[in-house]
Parts: sequence; C-alpha cells; structure tokens
Amino acid sequence: MWSAIVLILVLTLVPAKGFAQNEKGERIYKQWCGQCHGYEGDGEGYTKRYTFPTPRDFTMGVYKFRTTPTGEPPTDQDIIRSIRKGNPGTTMPPWKRFSDDEVKALTEYIKEFAPDVFEFEPEVIKITPPPFSEELIKEGREIFKKAKCVECHGLEGRGDGKKGWEENFKDDWGERIYPRNYTYPWDMRNGATVEDIFRTITTGLNGTPMTSYQDSLTDKQRWALAYFIKSLQLERHLGISLILKRVEKAPETPDDPLWDTLEYLDLPMGGQVIFEPRDFTPVITNVRVRGVYTEESVVIMLEWVDKKPDRGEEGNPPDAIRIQFPEKIPGGVEKPYFFLGDERHPVNVWWWKADGTVAEYSAKGYRNLQMQDRQNIKAEAEYSYGLYRVVFKRSLATDDENDMVFETGRFIPFSVAASDGREDEDDVRCAVSAWYYMMLEPSTPVKVYVMPPVVAFLVFGLGLVLHKRLSKS
Ligand code: HEC
Ligand code: HEC
Repeated sequence: MWSAIVLILVLTLVPAKGFAQNEKGERIYKQWCGQCHGYEGDGEGYTKRYTFPTPRDFTMGVYKFRTTPTGEPPTDQDIIRSIRKGNPGTTMPPWKRFSDDEVKALTEYIKEFAPDVFEFEPEVIKITPPPFSEELIKEGREIFKKAKCVECHGLEGRGDGKKGWEENFKDDWGERIYPRNYTYPWDMRNGATVEDIFRTITTGLNGTPMTSYQDSLTDKQRWALAYFIKSLQLERHLGISLILKRVEKAPETPDDPLWDTLEYLDLPMGGQVIFEPRDFTPVITNVRVRGVYTEESVVIMLEWVDKKPDRGEEGNPPDAIRIQFPEKIPGGVEKPYFFLGDERHPVNVWWWKADGTVAEYSAKGYRNLQMQDRQNIKAEAEYSYGLYRVVFKRSLATDDENDMVFETGRFIPFSVAASDGREDEDDVRCAVSAWYYMMLEPSTPVKVYVMPPVVAFLVFGLGLVLHKRLSKS
C-alpha cells in the first residue's frame, strides 16, 4: 500500500517537475524549431530534404559553433549566440522574437536531447584581438600557405582547394561539405568579424573537416590568419539599379583593369523552385554585375564564385550563366515573367556555357525557347582560383527585330540565372536573381532625366490640393 502511494507520487511528481521546468522551452521548440531540427531533436524535420546544410541533429551532442576546445560541448552562451545570430548562408535564421528568458529555456531544452554531453563544463578560449596592422595580414597570408589551409580553401580563399572537391569530403553526419569561400562574408556561418574568424580557427568546427588549430598555431599566428581572412572579404553592394558609364574604348577581356574601377551591383541568388526540377539548395549565392557602353556597343561582365570549373566533360552539365532582358524596354513597371519570360513579354537571353558556347535566344516562357537565327552576341570568359568572369558584348542595336535596342537614359530591366554543373544544376535547376535595372548613363546627367517626372508629380499634387481648397471655399 505505501509502496503504491510512493510509486504514484514518484510518477506524478518527478515528470511533473521535469515537465514544468521545460514547458516553456518545449512549447517554443515545437512551434519554431521542430520542423527543421525534428520534434525529437534528431535533425529529421520535414524540411530536411530542402535544406543544405541539413539542420543539426541535437541528439549527437556535436556542436560546430563554440568557444570551447575541439571535441567539447558548447557553453550555454555558444548556443544562445547561434540562436540569436543564426548561421548566415544556411537556413538557420537569426531569432529576434524571443525574450532572453525564452532563449534560455530553448537552450536548456536542446541540451536535454544529449544530456550526458553537458555533464561537465569545458574551459572557454580567450578572445582578445591584437591591434590591426598590415604586417599581420602579410604574416597571415604566409601562415595560410604553410599551415595548408590552401589545400581546402584555395590560394585566394574562395573555397576552391583541391581537397574539397574529393568525392568523399563529408562531415560526421555523412553529408557532403565544402570549404568556405572567405570572400563572401554573408555566408560565414560562425560570423564574419575577426573575433568570429579567430574563434573558428581556434576551436575548429566539430563534426567537420575544419579542425582546431589551437595547439598547432600560436595565438598570434591565429590572429594573423583571422586578419588576413578578413582582408579578403568583398563589400556587397545591394540595390535595384546599376548605371553603365560611357567609355571611348570598351574592355574586351575579363582581366582588363578598367573593370576593377567600375561601380558594381551584387545580385543575391535564390533557387528556382517553381518548375521541375527545382533547386532548393543552390550553391551560387551571388552574381556581381558591371558594365560600360561605347558609341556602338554595350559590354557587361558577370562575376561569381564556383569552387570547381565544369566544362561538362564528366557527364554532368557544364557550368553556365545567362542574362535576360525584355525584348522591348517596357514603358511602365511591367516586367516579363521571371523565368524566361512569357507569351506577352518575350525576353532576349544571352547564354554562356563553360563548354565554350555562347548563344542568343528568344524566349516566351521556359518551354518556348528559341536560338535566334542571327547571332549578335560575343562572350569572353576566364576562370581563376574559384572565380568566373564572363564578359558579354553586343551592339546597342542589331539588324534583328527580336533584339532589344539599348537606349540611353532608360531603366532597362535585367535578371540573371546561373548553374553549377558539378551540383547537377542545369538550364532549369539553377540559381535565379530577381529583376533589376540598368541604365546607360546619358551624356546629360541622370538627375535631369529623373527630375522632370518628380517635379511634374509634385506640381500635379500641389495643384490637386489647391483645387480641393478652392472648391471647398
Ligand atoms: C528553417 C530551418 C531551421 C529552423 C526553423 C531552425 N534551425 Fe537551427 N539550424 C538549421 C540549420 C540548417 C543549421 C545548421 C547550420 C550548419 O550546419 O552550419 C542549424 C543550426 C542550429 C544551431 C547550431 C548548432 C551547432 O552546431 O553549433 C543551433 C543551436 C540551432 N540551430 C538552434 C535552433 C533553434 C533553437 C531553433 C528554433 C528557435 C532553430 N534552430 C530553428 C536550420 C533551422
Ligand atoms: C581539410 C580541409 C580544411 C582545411 C585544411 C582547413 N579548413 Fe577551414 N573549413 C573547412 C570546411 C569544410 C569548412 C566549412 C565547415 C562547414 O561548412 O561547417 C571550413 C570553414 C572555415 C571557416 C569559416 C567558418 C564559417 O564561419 O563559415 C574559416 C574561417 C576557416 N575554415 C579557416 C581555416 C584556416 C585559417 C585554415 C588553416 C589554418 C583552415 N580553415 C583549414 C575545411 C578545411
């Protein structure tokens, strides 16, 4: 009888206590995290097949992003940092909506998926950066070669090192993994500041081929590496439009020094997920666009990172990029359908492929794509340490009535699609950008062209107000 009462007490009180402690964490986890990380914390959420990298399996207790030595569990602060800041370049978003108490509850809840791992408290590394100096960057570049980071990250740090191409280059969860491209700070999962980079190099990312250098390199050497990596980061210029300046002589090749002096626009790329085969995990995350024009022609350069060039020789499709324009510059804001236009809004497509072909197409939707009879497009391409540069050149006007005529002072819509052959991306399964605008700068400054409508609008608006006032009185 007593033992029965004790048993009932144990059964009701103990789980009740455990439950009460984690009720908040459990509720938030199930609502916001389970669909990715799995309701049992095993990484088997239903979004798994649409995400790369896949969401963390918390039941293994292996955490990449830490301030603790290699192989050890993270501190609470580490988990909180991941939740608050997210992991850029992955589907793990930064979470701002929760209070500090809620994040704490979530952290406790996640730890419960691998309770044994969190039984002891590891030591935390010290992060006190030395002051910046050019010397440190130079030293960092040397260490980068000596410590063999290049084998994976490539000589220019674009993640194109040969080791990363190997077929069996995987993480402990059995997933394909890629050495990071340092030039895209927006894809740095563990953060892009020097302190963040130092943390990555020092602790390593558990479960991945990115090992810890805490023992093999001194603090100073790791700071030098961190400053060097920081110095490789590109400045991303986001916006909606790009101005093309007029020049006397157009650059013909991708390595013409003029390109590096020009203003550019970075286009964030997303997967094409409307048509089969869809691309939920595109690998090209950015395409940089610049251009100029001369009296006769327009020259546009597209630049992006691809860790391995594929010419289509190994049975996979070749790497490719295309830029599309409406067949006629639209008068208003109406634009063709994002994917190769539509019946009413045909597009011109300039298409370069790494097998050496370049061609001009007319498209009215992706099932209605035709190579033009008259080919007026030229392209020059270069691949260097992970970076593709493709230069397209066309005359402003051609003898083909289906070609758009480039006019100065007009907002010309354009968009880009790119594919990485090694990832089995192709014409349809590819990364796409939104629509953007380019304008060939007229000899009179742009302002003069933009102002009249603005002024007209203001005058019209004032007129209306006046009219209303007058009619009231
Ligand atoms: C849309 C999918 C998605 C959602 C929703 C999501 N995560 Fe993640 N999360 C990921 C992915 C993917 C990663 C792995 C990043 C990597 O491997 O580089 C990750 C990583 C993490 C990490 C870092 C683990 C490590 O190795 O250090 C933590 C902690 C985490 N998530 C917690 C959460 C919490 C808590 C929530 C809910 C508030 C949540 N996540 C919601 C996709 C998601
Ligand atoms: C054996 C291959 C390999 C070597 C050698 C290597 N790395 Fe990595 N590194 C990786 C991989 C793979 C990743 C990406 C891990 C991931 O996706 O979670 C990475 C990621 C990184 C990151 C970025 C983490 C982030 O926030 O996204 C930095 C910084 C880095 N490595 C620095 C270095 C430095 C410095 C060295 C040399 C001292 C080095 N790596 C050597 C494979 C390697």
